[in-house]
Amino acid sequence: MTHIALLPGDGIGPEIMAPAVQLLEHFVPGVSTEEHLFGGASIDAHGTALTDEVLAGCQQADAVLLAAVGGPKWDTTNPDDPRPEQGLLGLRKALGLFANLRPVRPLPALYDASPLKRERIEGTDLLVVRELTGGIYFGEKTRTDTDASDLCHYTTAEVDRIARVAFEAAKLRRNKVSSVDKANVMETSRQWRQVVHAVHAADFAGVELEDVLVDNAAMQLVSRPSDFDVIVTENLFGDILSDEAAMITGSIGMLPSASLGNPDGPGLFEPVHGSAPDIAGTGAANPLAMFLSLAMLLRHGLSLEAEAGALETAVDAALDGGLRTKDLGGSAGTAEATAAVLAHL
Ligand code: NAD
Ligand code: IPM
Ligand code: MN
Repeated sequence: MTHIALLPGDGIGPEIMAPAVQLLEHFVPGVSTEEHLFGGASIDAHGTALTDEVLAGCQQADAVLLAAVGGPKWDTTNPDDPRPEQGLLGLRKALGLFANLRPVRPLPALYDASPLKRERIEGTDLLVVRELTGGIYFGEKTRTDTDASDLCHYTTAEVDRIARVAFEAAKLRRNKVSSVDKANVMETSRQWRQVVHAVHAADFAGVELEDVLVDNAAMQLVSRPSDFDVIVTENLFGDILSDEAAMITGSIGMLPSASLGNPDGPGLFEPVHGSAPDIAGTGAANPLAMFLSLAMLLRHGLSLEAEAGALETAVDAALDGGLRTKDLGGSAGTAEATAAVLAHL
């Protein structure tokens, strides 16, 4: 029987998880699910953001669905205090999920919801392939009274494997990869560029490859987004560029993600946005990024391509039908948005 581990987390997390589970049960009748405390909720109960029991529960699942973690309650500048985000980083690392796919596909119905001009975003369909288990997120961290340091470290093998994910993805799309780095300053970026080009020359010479410095990439994402196909980049750059790219779709509340890379374990599926503490408890959260993350779970985690497509089509149809949550300039809340999507199934 298909088993899905559910991590509602904090803030708006539980509010968007509940309707997602309703949709999961619609598409996978009889699915077995188990909900686990994670992030701040787990810190409150157990003093740590990710317990061994929850990690084991995730490892045994066919896929993991996560909403969001974090919030002001657990924000601390003391390096010795537990943080919700440590649970997320620990989970990604422990599950071996080095490849984070963040598709950015603005719907024509939402062109006017974006702060960018319609003519710039028309035709945009890009995929951010973010390296997820290396770089400055996982390097040594030190802190004294006067000094602080985060080490950015990559092995060539880590760059090689994420480059392959990007080139393979491009072959199924428009056959172009933009590799984003800061090779004019950073040693890890010079290594990145060298390895990406070696992988390209050896196995993917038929794919168009361009190098873009990250500052320029941030600018081009808003000036010519439709020119991008696959963007491959390291962990921190990918984090920042994907939130920026979200605004092409109208809202961070629209962007889903899949974290993959371990053929022998479950993938992790989560919206790109966070726990939105500013709107938690108001019923205003846009659940569509969560629903689209569930679609990625159906596709990549359970190989249910038809069901994934049906869910995406229902989200599109709800928006075509006029659904607009507050973040998209409308007034619908989580419940109305859920009802609008359900109406198209
Ligand atoms: P955020 O993404 O939570 O919120 C940024 C802004 O976008 C807020 O104004 C919020 O209201 C809005 N927003 C986000 N998701 C929305 C949705 N679904 N519907 C409507 N509006 C939405 O980012 P932040 O405020 O920088 O971070 C808040 C907390 O979330 C922090 O603790 C951060 O560490 C955490 N975080 C967690 C994840 C995750 O769990 N994957 C991702 C990003 C941030
Ligand atoms: C994301 C988030 C996380 C990240 C945080 C919460 C650790 O911003 O998934 O994009 O930086 O990876
Ligand atoms: Mn982020």
